[in-house]
Amino acid sequence: MKVRKAVIPAAGLGTRMLPATKTIPKEMLPMVDKPVIQYIIEEAVASGIEDILVVTNRAKSAMDDYFDYHPELEERLLKNGKFKEAEAVRMSADLANIFYVRQKETKGLGHAIWRAKRFVGDEPFAVLLGDDIMMANKPVTKQLVDAAEKYGACAVGTQLVADEAISRYSSLKIQPLPHEDRIFRVSDMNEKPTPEEKFSNYAILGRYVLTSGIFDILEHTPPGYGGEIQLTDGLRTLCKQSPMVAVDFEGRRYDTGNLKGFLEATIDFALTDGEIGPWLRDFIIDKAKGL
Ligand code: UTP
Repeated sequence: MKVRKAVIPAAGLGTRMLPATKTIPKEMLPMVDKPVIQYIIEEAVASGIEDILVVTNRAKSAMDDYFDYHPELEERLLKNGKFKEAEAVRMSADLANIFYVRQKETKGLGHAIWRAKRFVGDEPFAVLLGDDIMMANKPVTKQLVDAAEKYGACAVGTQLVADEAISRYSSLKIQPLPHEDRIFRVSDMNEKPTPEEKFSNYAILGRYVLTSGIFDILEHTPPGYGGEIQLTDGLRTLCKQSPMVAVDFEGRRYDTGNLKGFLEATIDFALTDGEIGPWLRDFIIDKAKGL
């Protein structure tokens, strides 16, 4: 099982980040010096992915423009001796083979993934949500790919979340696997459960490795929570038909689609940046002293 392809659903409306996302896709908001989606593409590439499909919509063409060449800008930068900037501009267009498909109606994450059917064909593929970024030593997608390959199974990324948070996620029913601390077998799941409905506090968080069997399932999955076609409803069927594991991944996940997650990620990524990090640390310390 070799995972060469990835799908990044990025066609959501971004209603939690308005008014900024009225005209700028939330995936294009700057996180330190790069748009959010570049971190996700870089994680996919660092995990061995070669071809990436971004699911977009009519308001998100800024994404395909960003991953294209900009010869006029590069020429000007080179002429002015701004070699580092020219290199950064070129590099962002050379990261991977990036393809695009539009989700013509915002019918939910499951429907967005279904749009990848022709791109994926019969291969296993990774899914990286377009607004979830990860800070990890080993790329989170690679952690899932390794587990999927080891067990010949689909894989979902998970972490334990607090009691009051699980109702915002999908809750997993899991069983231990011999000699594994962080990988579990998945037998069931439910989307945005009430405290009584939840299986566990293990929530699915933003990363998946799936087989093409999901497409036929999604095609027949009726709208679920919020009137949208939910990926979780499709995965629930898939985990009963074929093996699935959950990987309690090492690393921190940030939901940049809400303001708090976006600010946390901005600060954490800026603090680890060699150039801006030391300045930001001093700035925060000075601010804290003034409180
Ligand atoms: P989210 O629920 O986090 O994003 O979807 P959203 O739909 O933009 O939500 P609000 O408006 O901020 O609450 C999870 C992922 O699924 C994608 C989103 O782009 C995000 O990456 N998505 C969601 C689609 O591609 N299509 C959809 O119809 C819904």
